[in-house]
Order: sequence, then C-alpha cells, then structure tokens
Amino acid sequence: MTNLWSGRFDTAPDAAAFDFGASFRFDRRLFEDDVTGSAAWARALRKTGVLTPDEAAQLEQTLASLREEARTNAGFVAGDDEDVHSFVERLLVERVGDAGRRLHTGRSRNEQVSLDLRLYLRRRIPLLQRAVAAVVDALAAQAASAGDALMPSFTHFRPAQPVLVAHFFLSHAAPLRRDFARLAGARDEADALPLGSGAIAGTAYSVDVDALAADLGFSRIVDNSMDASSDRDFAATFLYACALTMVHLSRLAEDLIIFCGDEHRFFELSDALSTGSSMMPQKKNPDPLELVRGKSGRAIGHLVGMLTTIKGLPTGYNKDLQEDKEAVFGAEDTLSGCLAVVRSVARGLTLNAERTTAAASGLLLATDVADYLVGKGMPFRRAHEVVGALVRKLIAEKRDFETLSLAEWRAASELCEADVIARVTPAVSVQAKRTPQSTAPDAVRARLADVRRWLDGLGDLC
Ligand code: ARG
Repeated sequence: MTNLWSGRFDTAPDAAAFDFGASFRFDRRLFEDDVTGSAAWARALRKTGVLTPDEAAQLEQTLASLREEARTNAGFVAGDDEDVHSFVERLLVERVGDAGRRLHTGRSRNEQVSLDLRLYLRRRIPLLQRAVAAVVDALAAQAASAGDALMPSFTHFRPAQPVLVAHFFLSHAAPLRRDFARLAGARDEADALPLGSGAIAGTAYSVDVDALAADLGFSRIVDNSMDASSDRDFAATFLYACALTMVHLSRLAEDLIIFCGDEHRFFELSDALSTGSSMMPQKKNPDPLELVRGKSGRAIGHLVGMLTTIKGLPTGYNKDLQEDKEAVFGAEDTLSGCLAVVRSVARGLTLNAERTTAAASGLLLATDVADYLVGKGMPFRRAHEVVGALVRKLIAEKRDFETLSLAEWRAASELCEADVIARVTPAVSVQAKRTPQSTAPDAVRARLADVRRWLDGLGDLC
C-alpha cells in the first residue's frame, strides 16, 4: 500500500494502526474546502513557475470535475485513503499524472488541514447564524402575539414581580442575539490564511500569500508559521460560541418545560412536538425540549475536550489536533439540530393568558406597595418593613392585597389613601416601570421593534 509518506518506510503500515490514525471517515466533510484550497494553491504555484500554465489549468479543471462528481454522487468521496487530503491528491495523480504529483510542492498537510477547517467554518457558520436568527424570529412572533398579557417573573424560582409575557420571550431573544454576534466573531477568527506556513517553518517557494489570501477570500494571513501549524484557537472559539448558544437553548427549554407543565400551564406545547408515554395514557411529554437541555452537555463536552487536547501540545503540528474535526462537526450538528427543533417548539406554543394573568397577581405586588409608600414620602427601607409586616399578616390570613379594605391599608400605614387600591395591580405595576430595558409596555414594544429591525437588517444572511 502506498500513501503520502510510504517512501520513508520499508514495511507497510500496520493495518489497525493505520485505521486508527486515519481521519477520512470524518474529514471527508472538508472535501469541497480541500478542493477550493488546492485549486488556489495550483494558481499560486503557477505564478511561482513551479507549475506550467497548462499543468495548473489541468489541475484546476480536474479539481472542478471532482467537485462536480462529489455533488452528484453521494458515495464518491470514499476510499482507503488516510484523509481527505490524500484522497484528493490520489485522484489528481490518477487523472493528470505528474501535475498531480507537483501540487504538494511547498505545501504541508499541517497547513492544509488548518486551511480546510477555516474555509469550512467560514461557509458553515452563517448557516448556524441564520438558524439562531430563526429562533429569535419565532420568539419575537410570540412576543408580538402576546400583546400586553401579563405573567409572573421569578427569582430563586419564587414569584417575583409581574412582567409582560412579551418581556419573557424577548428575555430569551437577547442572549441569542449575543450568540449570533459570538458566531460572527468565531468566523472572523477563522478568517486568516495559513498557507505559506509549510510544515512549520514557512515555504521555500515565493508564493504571494497576500494574493492567495485575496484569491481565497481571506481578509488577512496568519502571523507566524510555527503558531499556525498548531493553532486551533479558532476552533475552540467556535466551540465556545456553540456551547454557550446551547446553554441558552437549554435554559429556554427548561423554562418552557416548567411553564408548559401541569403546575403552571402558562403555555401549551403543540401536540406535534410532544410525545406520549408507552404506559401512562394521560402523559404529554416535552421530549424535544428535554433533549435540547440534555444535548447542551455534549456541546460543552466538545469545548472542554478541545481545550484539553490543545493545552499540553508542544509547538508545531501534533496528530492530537486531528481531534478538532469531530468536535467541530459534532458541535455544529448538535447546535443546528437543536436550533431547528427549538424554533418549531417556540412557533407552536399557545399562550394560556388566563393562567398567566392569574399567576401575575397576589403578593408579588409587594414591591409596588413599597413604591407607593415611597411615593408618599416614606424612606424605602421603612416601606419595606411596613409591607413585609403586611405580607406576613396576609399570608397568615390566606389573603392578598386585593382583599384589603381602605381601613386595613390605613392601619398598615397612614400614608395610604384611596388611590392605593387602584395602584396595586399587575397592569399598573408593569406600567410603572421607567427604564428602556424594563417590562413597561412601551419599553417592551420598543425592544420588540428593535429585534424586528435587527431581523429585517440581516437581509441576505437570513
Ligand atoms: N488528518 C490530519 C489532521 O486531521 C491531517 C494533517 C496531517 N498532518 C500530519 N503531519 N500527519 O490533523
């Protein structure tokens, strides 16, 4: 058996060890990027005189036809090759002979694999961004259709203050917009051309790397060839962006699992996105959301695995780095699958406004009572004590603020006047908020409009 390095050895590689080291079964996903990079390298070698114009043209045409064959025949990118780079080179040699044998002049697989992964991320990250935006879009649609409906918010998972249901949905859109930007940042980090680094020390052929970068659409070249051969920071950054997006999806899933549950019934999951029990006929389970929550562990694992792989590496390419690809592909697949299902779940939710409104009332108006007293001149700390005592009494009597007579209000504090009754309601509570990030209906409408503008502005991407 011959491969890219068999000349150095007088025996064939141990079959099991070769299989163990081979990456073709997963790096075949980089096929198009390897073809793109190889065609650009052929053009660069032509300019240096290593390839004649004829040879370069032959290589380019053959690479284009390989790409076509792979697009039309799903089983085309396959064989006993060690990796995708060996596969492409083997086919070139089979089809064009010596020109194929010249293509690897001045180039190493160490930089080629980095190039391929960078090209891959550059073209794939926008697809993830688009899917993130689609979830934001579904959340914004829910926010819009909820109008001014109210629900409780929670801290320590205890009822805290009334908020708009729209505010809740937008609270999950906000981190996803940051994820969108983080993915853009990961793409930027990958956007540097490693070619010209050779195996580690650079290349002895006067390749115009700036022209090559422009040819491949890179905005810059890497700083240092030694660093370039072992650098996978861009992969780790991508994995972090995926892991954190998954963490956000997991938290959204958790909120929906709780709020769709029998104890809350704030929202109803669409039947199509729920599952039944094989034994208990009454069950309607949120399996897709639970899987999203569960799969966040996998995405975090890919990040931690990658960081652990690179932390002890001596400078320069080491085969450990081959582990980068399964992490990147795994994180990408996990995230894109979860984004699609969360989008469907979010779109299919039905608001049970009666339940959310009822739950938004009661003792969670205590802060509004304190604010009322502050408005009448009482220092806040004092108001907190007065309302705390009132809350204690109401809990003991199993009542809430709504049932208090004016006399009882005045017994709690003489500062209470007749307007207190109308002031202590969930609707007034949200209306009273004054800051742009608050749950005040006007503020929420403005934030929703901002989300919509952002979505509309994504234009081509989405
Ligand atoms: N399959 C290898 C990887 O994924 C390609 C680079 C191989 N380079 C080498 N010197 N063995 O990292």
